[in-house]
Amino acid sequence: MTTATTTTTTPTPALRAERVLSSRSVERLVAGTATSDGAGVKLTRLLSQPLQRRLDPFLMLDAFGSDDPDDYIAGFPDHPHRGFETVTYMIAGRMKHRDSAGHEGLLENGGVQWMTAGRGVVHSEIPQQEEGVMEGFQLWLNLPGRDKMKAPWYRDFGAADLPRFTSGGVTAVVIAGESHGVAGAVTREATEPLVLDLHLEAGARFEQPLPPGHNAFVVVYRGAAAIGGRDVTPGKLALLSNDPAADGVVIEAKDGMRALLVAGRPLGEPIAQYGPFVMNTEEEIHQAVSDYRDGRLG
Ligand code: CO
Repeated sequence: MTTATTTTTTPTPALRAERVLSSRSVERLVAGTATSDGAGVKLTRLLSQPLQRRLDPFLMLDAFGSDDPDDYIAGFPDHPHRGFETVTYMIAGRMKHRDSAGHEGLLENGGVQWMTAGRGVVHSEIPQQEEGVMEGFQLWLNLPGRDKMKAPWYRDFGAADLPRFTSGGVTAVVIAGESHGVAGAVTREATEPLVLDLHLEAGARFEQPLPPGHNAFVVVYRGAAAIGGRDVTPGKLALLSNDPAADGVVIEAKDGMRALLVAGRPLGEPIAQYGPFVMNTEEEIHQAVSDYRDGRLG
């Protein structure tokens, strides 16, 4: 439900108060699995294959974070992707990116790299040490079958390029979608992804309307929150119910907290994954593997 009201304190003229009458509840808390990828980078996989159907259109979420450069310094050397998009959000540290489509960029604190692999890229993602700390997330967003073989696309957004608003002790960085009248850096028609980074002061409350059919989750990564009335501590994926009677989610900060809120419209298509390739059928996976092997992917 959306209520247009006048705003008094915000520099964002389009800001619109959005109210939630009935919050979704937390269906379950997922602890994630410690794993390593690339050249031995340690990470926590919060969303993996068993949840892909439940959280369609999202395929994967990794949280990486370490203050030991040895854990990540070699990063993710050249590797391929096909059939989906990767969204990398850097909270601390820097990551250098280079791909076979000729894109090169340095992702810095608070920045987002959005890459559409489409028919295929081969790229490397190499952390650049900054005071020995690196922390961030990588989210994989599926593409509808009709877009899986489209041309690759890539864009880096610095922290200053990302739309954001502040109201009532809440600062929201709108990475994708739209929140309280503020359009995000990226929009996608097929899946309407919403990706918000939320910073709440102690006692602040954030309401985000969500269509009941959209799958959604929250990852608190600082402080503690109550989501739909249930206490959530950092490091877990709080999977939100698709209760048809709920019109969104209400997040309340128990103390100063930060969280990612992610939601999107499910594609409802078959998901065939083999490592970095996500297609609709096994046959398309075999094609991706042979295209990569024959150098036709990047
Ligand atoms: Co990659």
